[in-house]
Formats: sequence, C-alpha cells, structure tokens
Amino acid sequence: MSCHLHSKPSRPDRWHPQCGPAGAGSVGSVPDRPYTLLSCAVSLDGYLDDGSPDRLILSGPEDLDEVDALRAAADAILVGAGTVRADDPRLLVRDPARIAAREAAGRPPQPLRVTLTATGDLDPAARFFTGPGTPLVYAASPAAAAAAGKFKGRAVVIDAGAELSLSSVLQDLYLERTVATVLIEGGARILRDALAGGLADELRLAIAPFFVADPAAPRFALPAAYPQTSAHPMTLTSLRQLGEIAVHRYCLNP
Ligand SMILES: NC(=O)c1ccc[n+]([C@@H]2O[C@H](COP(=O)([O-])OP(=O)(O)OC[C@H]3O[C@@H](n4cnc5c(N)ncnc54)[C@H](OP(=O)(O)O)[C@@H]3O)[C@@H](O)[C@H]2O)c1
Repeated sequence: MSCHLHSKPSRPDRWHPQCGPAGAGSVGSVPDRPYTLLSCAVSLDGYLDDGSPDRLILSGPEDLDEVDALRAAADAILVGAGTVRADDPRLLVRDPARIAAREAAGRPPQPLRVTLTATGDLDPAARFFTGPGTPLVYAASPAAAAAAGKFKGRAVVIDAGAELSLSSVLQDLYLERTVATVLIEGGARILRDALAGGLADELRLAIAPFFVADPAAPRFALPAAYPQTSAHPMTLTSLRQLGEIAVHRYCLNP
C-alpha cells in the first residue's frame, strides 16, 4: 500500500463537522486521514450484540433513517471483517431520494464499502460484495494474494502490508482514494482501534432501552488505553430521543 502526498480531497461540509481542527491533513494523531464519524448502537449495558447467532436489533426506524442519512453523506462506509461475517450487512443508502441527491451532486450513488481483514476469511457471497459499486478489501500481506483471487470481480483487494492497521487504511483512503469522509459502523475491534488510536472525530452512539448482560457478547469500548479519560473527556454535542432510542453525539477531542 503506497501513501503518496498528492491530490488530497478537500474537507467535507456535508456533515457540518464540528469536531477537530479546521483544514485538511491535521486531525488527530494521523497526519492525513478522512473526517471520521463512528456510529454504533448498544444496549443500555454497553453491548453491541448478544451471544446468539442472530443479529440483535438495537435500532428503531427513526434511528435507522438517521443512519441512512449519515451513510448518504459519507464518501465511504467501513466495517471490520468480523462485522461482515457476523451481520452480513449491505452497507447501502436505502432512501431513493438520498441516492438521487448524491447523483445530482455528481457523486457515486452509493458510498464506497470498505473492510479490513488479516485472514481474508470472508464469504464472496456476502452482501458486502454484492451491492452496486466495487468495494475495497484491505488485506494483510500474507492473505492478500489469495484474497485477490477469491474476490476477483467482486472487490478491489489492497495489500495493506504485514502490519495491517486502521490508521494506515484511513490514510490510504484519504490520500489514494479521494475519500474525505468515512462512516465507521463497527464492530467491536474496529471501534476500539478508532477510539483508542485517536483516529476519529465524532461518535454517534444509539442506546437501546434494554440489557444484554452476557459477558460472552461483543461490547462497545473493549479494554484499551483510551485518550478519552475523565481528565480528557469527549464533548457531548447533542442528546436526542428517536423513538425508543437515545442518541448521543460526541466530539472525540483526540
Ligand atoms: N450494534 C452495532 O452498532 C454493531 C455494529 C457493527 C458490528 N456489531 C457487532 O460487532 C460484532 C463484531 O465485532 P468484531 O470485533 O468481531 O469485528 P470487527 O471489529 O467488525 O472486525 C474485526 C476483524 O477485522 C479485521 N481487523 C480489524 N482490524 C485489524 C487489524 N488492525 N489488523 C488485522 N485485522 C484487522 C480482522 O479480520 P480477520 O479476522 O478476517 O482477520 C478482525 O477479526 C458482531 O457481533 C456485530 O454484530 C454491532
């Protein structure tokens, strides 16, 4: 994966970002990365899912519609390979009016779908690969050649080096793929890496009114050394009720 300093995309105004210093190439600990919004839904006790094989529904229709609007505003949507395996998400904008608005603005109808994997252990029939447009798979070097063969015609596979990291993926998206805004939609590991690594600008946290209380289930904010401590907290920018869901939005102040 090469990261040359050329043709930087301009900073977005579609999310009206309030977080991070203005101007390209100066946010957080990575010198060049997209404006990055983390979005996830949790139970009241902080779980991203339960321990069952079925996907746990943690959102309501109004919340999902708002996430659809965030997708429509993004250049790319990124999830970890664990989420592709567990949830088989489409990662598409659903509202035809939002798709039409993207096209009218000269943008692709759908955001770029992106995942990262060390193993390449993804099903080529997953919905991640079947939507419109060609998704990106950042694969660690040992798995990259096999992944390129396995996903041929379905995805562009990028050899992301032996030390695959979210940081280098975001940098490559920004510098090489003209991605100025990324919506990261999980899962547990990716959210931890983004938060602990100071790699994101905003967090949108939707909280469902029930408990999971299963220590085997995936949690939000896995153990890590987070920069957002009591001495250096996030800034709550909004707190709203969408149906039964409480939606918090924070500047991360990396
Ligand atoms: N409630 C919500 O909003 C929400 C949203 C999304 C997901 N989820 C839940 O989250 C759970 C999945 O979380 P997860 O932690 O297992 O998966 P994840 O964070 O989506 O993906 C982790 C995987 O991504 C790859 N990866 C990420 N960073 C890497 C790095 N630096 N180097 C190498 N590989 C890297 C690895 O894939 P390989 O194993 O292929 O190497 C790793 O196993 C599911 O239960 C899902 O339902 C909930």
